[in-house]
Amino acid sequence: MSLSSHPHTFRLSPADYNALTTNAAAQPELYWEREGRRLTWTAEPSAAYCKEKGWFADGALNASVNCLDRHLEKRGNQNALIWQAEDTGNVLRLTYKALHERVCRMANVLRSLGVKIGDRVAIHLPSVPEGPIAMLACARIGAIHVVLFGGFSPEAIADRLADSGAVVAVTANVGRRGAKRIPFKTTLDAALALHPDAHSIRHVLVVSVTEDDVSMDAGRDQWLSPLLDAASSDCTPQHMPSCAPLFLLYTSGSTGKPKGIVHGTGGYLVWASYTHDLVFDHQDGDIFWCTADIGWITGHTYGVYGPLLNGGTVLLFEGMPSHPSPGRWWNVIQDHKVTTFYTSPTAIRALMREGDDVVQRYDLSSLRVLGTVGEPISQEAWSWFNNHVGGGRCAFVDTWWQTESGGIMISPVPGAVTEKPASATLPLPGIHPVLLDEQGVPKAGATEGVLCLRGSWPGRAISIWKDATLFERTYLQPYPGFYFTGDGARRDEDGYYWITGRVDDVINVSGHRIGSAEIEDALATEPTIAESAAIGVPHDLKGQGIVVYVVPRAEAPEDLHIRAVKAITSKVGRYAAPEHIHIVPDLPKTRSGKNVRRLLRKIACGETEGFGDLSTLANPEIVVALVELVQSTK
Ligand code: PRX
Repeated sequence: MSLSSHPHTFRLSPADYNALTTNAAAQPELYWEREGRRLTWTAEPSAAYCKEKGWFADGALNASVNCLDRHLEKRGNQNALIWQAEDTGNVLRLTYKALHERVCRMANVLRSLGVKIGDRVAIHLPSVPEGPIAMLACARIGAIHVVLFGGFSPEAIADRLADSGAVVAVTANVGRRGAKRIPFKTTLDAALALHPDAHSIRHVLVVSVTEDDVSMDAGRDQWLSPLLDAASSDCTPQHMPSCAPLFLLYTSGSTGKPKGIVHGTGGYLVWASYTHDLVFDHQDGDIFWCTADIGWITGHTYGVYGPLLNGGTVLLFEGMPSHPSPGRWWNVIQDHKVTTFYTSPTAIRALMREGDDVVQRYDLSSLRVLGTVGEPISQEAWSWFNNHVGGGRCAFVDTWWQTESGGIMISPVPGAVTEKPASATLPLPGIHPVLLDEQGVPKAGATEGVLCLRGSWPGRAISIWKDATLFERTYLQPYPGFYFTGDGARRDEDGYYWITGRVDDVINVSGHRIGSAEIEDALATEPTIAESAAIGVPHDLKGQGIVVYVVPRAEAPEDLHIRAVKAITSKVGRYAAPEHIHIVPDLPKTRSGKNVRRLLRKIACGETEGFGDLSTLANPEIVVALVELVQSTK
C-alpha cells in the first residue's frame, strides 16, 4: 500500500516525521524536554532524563489534573467518555465536566476510607465507567491503582492482593458477558477468603452493574453508589513527584510468579500522550475505541490515559463482539461514529470467521485509523481488516509494545510511514531498537535477532514492585547495555521490523501473556503430578494455544486430565486452559536435568523427525516414545 492511497489528511507528512526522528536522535534531551511540555506540571522538571533518577525526575504533577482539570475550560462540555452498555439502548455520555465531577467524588470516597498517598487500591471491574473513574480517582489522591483482570481466578487475585498490599478493592456485583453473568464480587470474596492473613484489604466498594444482589460483609463491604452521592464533588489533587508510582500492573514473565510492573507518573504520561497523538494521528472530534479490557496495559494507556491527556473522547464498550448477534462491534462503530479503532489480531481472526457479509451491512465510513496490538498479525488478517473494515481508506497501525514499555514503541505513523502488511514497521522517533546475536552483539542491516532497545524512553517501567533487583535481572542484565524485550524480530532491507514472537518461555494466548512456569507451578500443586512442562503451539484463532505434558507420580488417576485443567484454571484463570494435555512417562532432559522445550514444542506441533542431535540428552529414548504418544492422540 502506498501513502497516496489514503484519502484522509493526516497531520504528519513523511518530511515532518523524518525531522522528528532526526531531532530525537541528534538532541534527545531537548526533544524530550519539549515533549515533556505536553503536560501541566506543578513543578517544572529541570531536565528530561537522568540515568540515576529517571524521567523528568524533579518535576511534580497530578495525572488526573492532566487528564481532566486542564481541559475543563476549553472542553468542559465535550464528551470525555462514552459508555455503550451491553444493552443496545443504554448509553452514558460523560463530558469532561461530568467525568471530572465523578472522579472527584470517587477520590473523596477513597480519602474518607483512609486511603493515603502511596496506598494501593485494587480495581476488579468489568468494562463500566467506574473502572476509568476509579483509576483517575486514585491518581487524584496519589494512591497507586492495581487493576486486576476480570478473568483471573480467586487464587490469581489473592496472590496479587497480597503482593501489592492493596488496602481497598473496588469491584462489581456482576459483569455481563452477553446473556451470562460473571460473578465479580463472589470471585473477589473467594480471593479474600483464601489467605485472609496475606492481604490488607480493609474495604470493598461494590458497583451495582445490575439489580443482582450479592452477599455483603457488614464491616467491610459497601455499595459504591450511595457513597458517591454523599461525597463532595470538590477534591484537591495531590501533587506527585514525577517518579512516584502511578500504577502497578501484573504481567507474566519466564519466572513463575507474575511481576508487579511499576509505572511512574511523569514519564509514563508523556509517553501515553506522545504515542497516542503520533500513532493514532489524534485530531479534534476523534472518537477513540480501544477494545482492550482496562485490566491490561493497552486498556490503561489507550483506553484511559492517552486519549484523555490529549483531550479526546474515549468509547468504552461493555459487551462482546458478537452479542446479541454477529456484527455488534460494527454496530457500535456505526452508532458512535468511531474514528479510531484499536483491537487485537485475535479479535480480528474471530470476526473474519463470521463472513464478509456481516461487516458489509454497516456504515463504517467514520473510521480513519485502524490499529492492532498484542500479537503478530498474519498478512491475511491484516488485509481483511484493512479492506473489509477500513474499506481500504484507513491508516493501519500494527503497534508493537509491552506492559513494561508503557506505550507503543514500533509502529507506522499515519501519513508518514508507508505500511507493509503485518509489519510493525519503524520505531517511533526517539526509540532505538537493536537486533542482537546470541553473544549480545548488535547485528547490522537486514537480519534477525533478539530485539533489545538502546537507551531509555519516558514510558519505561520504573521497577518491579518490591523487587528492583528483579527488574535489573530481567530486563537490563541479560544483554548488558541494552533493555531486553523478550521478543525476537527480523529487520528487512528497508529497516522495517517484523516481530517473530517471544524468545523466552512466555506463551501469548489471544494476546494474553502466560508464563510456562506459571502453568507448571499451578500443576505442581496437584499431588498426583510429579512434573510437567507447558509450551505454546500455533493456534488458528488464539495465535498460540497451550499444550501441557504431565508426568504422573505413580499410576495416573483416571481423572488426571480433569485435575490438571482444574489446577491451571483455579491457580491462573480460565484463559490459561490448555488445548491438549499429554500424559507422559518422562520429559526429555539435558544431562543437567533441564527440560528441552525445543523438542517438546516440535513434538506437540506434530513433527516426527528432524529433532537434531539427541545424544546430549540424558534420556534420548523418550523422544520416540513421546512422538508416538502425541501421534496416537491425533
Ligand atoms: O511478544 C510481544 C507481543 O506481546 C508482548 C507484550 O505483551 P503485554 O505486555 O501483555 O502487552 C500487550 C499489549 C501491549 C510482546 O512482548 N506483542 C505485542 N504487540 C505485538 C506483539 N507481537 C507482535 N506484534 C505486535 N504488534
